[in-house]
Amino acid sequence: MNNDTKDKLLDHDADGIREFDNNLPRWWLYGFYFTIAMSVIYMYYYHVHTGSDWNVLWYGPRGSEQEYTAEVNQAAADLAHAPKGPSVTMTLLTDEASLEEGEEIFNGDANLCYTCHRTDLGGEVGPNLTDEFWLHGCSLEQIIASIKKGYPEKGMMEYGSGAKLDDLKLLQVASYIVSMRGTNPSSPKPVEEGRDVQCQ
Ligand code: HEC
Repeated sequence: MNNDTKDKLLDHDADGIREFDNNLPRWWLYGFYFTIAMSVIYMYYYHVHTGSDWNVLWYGPRGSEQEYTAEVNQAAADLAHAPKGPSVTMTLLTDEASLEEGEEIFNGDANLCYTCHRTDLGGEVGPNLTDEFWLHGCSLEQIIASIKKGYPEKGMMEYGSGAKLDDLKLLQVASYIVSMRGTNPSSPKPVEEGRDVQCQ
């Protein structure tokens, strides 16, 4: 635009308000171009690019995907360290008192283990828990995992009946099962098909 129109009022009239058609000030224009350039970079950076470090210097080391993952990991770590009452080390218990507690839980009406596995653990609806063959593994960790999640599609709810056990009770009942290994109950349930993970 040339200077002919500088500070000349346009014909245009809006309720008595008239206007010039002057050139935009340079500083304003460059600011405007800058926002356009930024919008392109922004769009690319947040909506297209997900990888890392093409622009570390300018924006920091992470793409949005890494930022997300890092935040999720951080949250998981925070959660893991959140106080949750007295913690129990999940190592096998062998003392008499703990095993008795475990036996009581196993044969109690809160968790109902005995109704499917029998009080001698010989198996009925559920498998025999005393022999060397397992469906899901015989280690303490695997037994704990079996009890925690149950096998609902086979009739075993989580924690047997759905009544949650705290870590100590879980450990006691799992330790009790381990302690019953090799006890040879009479007329055990025959080994089911697929129960062939051999326990060392
Ligand atoms: C309603 C019946 C039922 C109840 C109650 C039940 N179970 Fe089970 N349980 C089963 C069945 C059925 C399976 C086999 C799951 C499969 O076939 O995958 C099983 C599997 C298991 C296994 C894995 C065995 C293996 O061979 O890997 C363990 C350990 C176990 N139960 C422990 C328990 C304990 C402890 C309780 C009580 C807290 C309990 N169960 C309550 C029916 C039951």
